[in-house]
Amino acid sequence: MAEVTRHIGLSLGADICWPLCFEAIMKELDLRVPHEGDTVRFEVERVMIEPFDLRQGCKYDVVIDRLTHWYHTSREWIKKAILMDGLYVFNNPWSVQANEKHTTYCAMMKLGMRIPDTWMIPPKAYEPNPDLKPTLSRYAKLFDITRLGPKLGWPMFMKPYDGGGWRGVVKVDDEGAARAAYDASGKSVMHVQAAVDGFDRFVRCIGFGPQTHCVLYDPDAPLHERYTTQTGFISAAEEEHLRKLTLTINAFFDWEFNSCEALRKDGVWYPIDFANPCPDSQVTSLHWHFPWLVGAYVRWSVFCAATKRPMRKNQDWSPFYEVAALDMPFDDKLERYAAIADQRFETARFEEFCAKHLADLDEVIWRFFGTEQAKDAVRQKVAALFPHHEVEQFTEHFWGRIQDWRASQKS
Ligand SMILES: Nc1ncnc2c1ncn2[C@@H]1O[C@H](COP(=O)(O)OP(=O)(O)O)[C@@H](O)[C@H]1O
Ligand SMILES: [Mg+2]
Repeated sequence: MAEVTRHIGLSLGADICWPLCFEAIMKELDLRVPHEGDTVRFEVERVMIEPFDLRQGCKYDVVIDRLTHWYHTSREWIKKAILMDGLYVFNNPWSVQANEKHTTYCAMMKLGMRIPDTWMIPPKAYEPNPDLKPTLSRYAKLFDITRLGPKLGWPMFMKPYDGGGWRGVVKVDDEGAARAAYDASGKSVMHVQAAVDGFDRFVRCIGFGPQTHCVLYDPDAPLHERYTTQTGFISAAEEEHLRKLTLTINAFFDWEFNSCEALRKDGVWYPIDFANPCPDSQVTSLHWHFPWLVGAYVRWSVFCAATKRPMRKNQDWSPFYEVAALDMPFDDKLERYAAIADQRFETARFEEFCAKHLADLDEVIWRFFGTEQAKDAVRQKVAALFPHHEVEQFTEHFWGRIQDWRASQKS
């Protein structure tokens, strides 16, 4: 029985806390996974940014990528390593690059999801370009933004078509506000979307491979309080519905980690934002939920690395479209979409793998989040975000939340 090492690379930017915890937990686990006659061991390393020869090899088996969406040298290194060296990366960099929030709305509308009515509008301002004047003077139709009010109903949301981090999101209540928001949007290409007004639940469902975790979200709370610690806020059937919605979206786009925001109104779930393929992983927003996320990172990356699961390089939407074309209620279609997702994410094999090889993980995580080392990871993240005089206070705050989570696991 040969001992083989799988190399897991972390391609990181501003992340501080989850990689520290991930590295410490992997060390503590010190895994030896039997696989096809070998004993598989794991090494975790941070991927550095440096010049590279397109023909050089790649030492990593799996890279967890948190940079592709904005740092292009790393994106192109990752693409080279997938194409030339058989690297497995999540998320698929081509899919991250190509699929904006707009595409996700279109695709999921086509699959039958209840996306609020949404329009796209040309931008208010442009970069100078010699072709601009002839193009706009010939083809751009004048329009009145306020006309969308009666079509979509007030209030409406105006937000960039490629969204992220609430940048440029404005709720507009009337014609004056709509004009002002459009004037202020500048060069951004915007969506105007009907509000899900009067929703009674806002849930963020984090999907990681086949794993999902629903959080009750409070959009009106200060940033560090938006992920609430409430449990039991939806029924088991609703949680299953959100699991299916999230995994359908993720499998459709080959996003292995992503989060889906959905609002419930009159018992119906409306997904509004599900193009978050580098999902928030910071202890300063997740706190109580953070240990779950770190565990999800460990489970999925170890499973992918140990089993040498082949990466899906090409997106294939056709099986979903075949289901969409069937004459049946949406819930029946969703059942079938989710079955495709479970097949793509190998849900059954993954669960069996975790039960067999990662049976201790929950206990290791629980213990780790009681250590000084874990607290220091929290402190480092807080120190990077909060003013000096608030560091101790907020470290204790987030640490307290994690201890509440630990207590909840043993009660
Ligand atoms: N159609 C909508 N109905 C109700 N609230 C919305 C709607 N669209 C956006 N919002 C609110 O605005 C926030 C930001 O919009 P979102 O689409 O999530 O943008 P981002 O991609 O920047 O996160 C949402 O979390 C939600 O609170
Ligand atoms: Mg959002």
